[in-house]
Amino acid sequence: MSHLIAPSVLAADFANLQRDVEMLNESQADYIHVDIMDGVFVPNISFGLPVCEAIYKHAKKPLDVHLMIDKPENYIQAFHDAGAATISVHYEASPHLHRTLQAIRDLGLRAGVAINPHTNVSLLENVIQDTDLVCMMSVNPGFGGQKFIEQTYTKVRQLKELIADQNASTLIEIDGGVNIDNAPKLLEAGADVLVAGSFVFKSENPIHTIQQLKDVSI
Ligand code: DX5
Ligand code: ZN
Repeated sequence: MSHLIAPSVLAADFANLQRDVEMLNESQADYIHVDIMDGVFVPNISFGLPVCEAIYKHAKKPLDVHLMIDKPENYIQAFHDAGAATISVHYEASPHLHRTLQAIRDLGLRAGVAINPHTNVSLLENVIQDTDLVCMMSVNPGFGGQKFIEQTYTKVRQLKELIADQNASTLIEIDGGVNIDNAPKLLEAGADVLVAGSFVFKSENPIHTIQQLKDVSI
């Protein structure tokens, strides 16, 4: 399978969100990554349900919703209703992770687990069969435009091994600081999905930048 690209609308122009979503519709993007921050789990507030719904109204690509919030289990139904195709909850915010993943799948959505840079991938050993996607943070969650953490390559290789050991079909998504320089190395290590916010939206020609990321071959 060729890799997938998930541009993050966190870096879009919120006053021209419809225009930016329509740009993504025309691009090679596979998903639209939607970052929800609550100012509690992470030290920043992005946007919430009504904005997710507004994105969904114009989107022709599936929404990949990344919940950087406390008690994500309380908002699964609401984000399903707001148009999510995938919902990722943070390992660090989920004392009942297995139950939450089941609840996401029960709604017919793809279930994701997001892990912070300090979180060891071996902690996913007992839930990998219940996980469609691991959103591996390659920056500390909360802000776009941060510097990529190099340790991520090692973690991708470890996670790839864990997935293979269990014969699971979980996708590995990399989120934070992704650009055209680290993309080949990430794919080589075993990444399946690349999230990119600033690199896409701050570029002169976002459609072309998405194409560039899509065309990376290893
Ligand atoms: C960070 C978010 C990321 C962010 C990525 O907390 O989860 O999805 O939008 O942005 P860049 O690509 O600018 O690091
Ligand atoms: Zn994200």
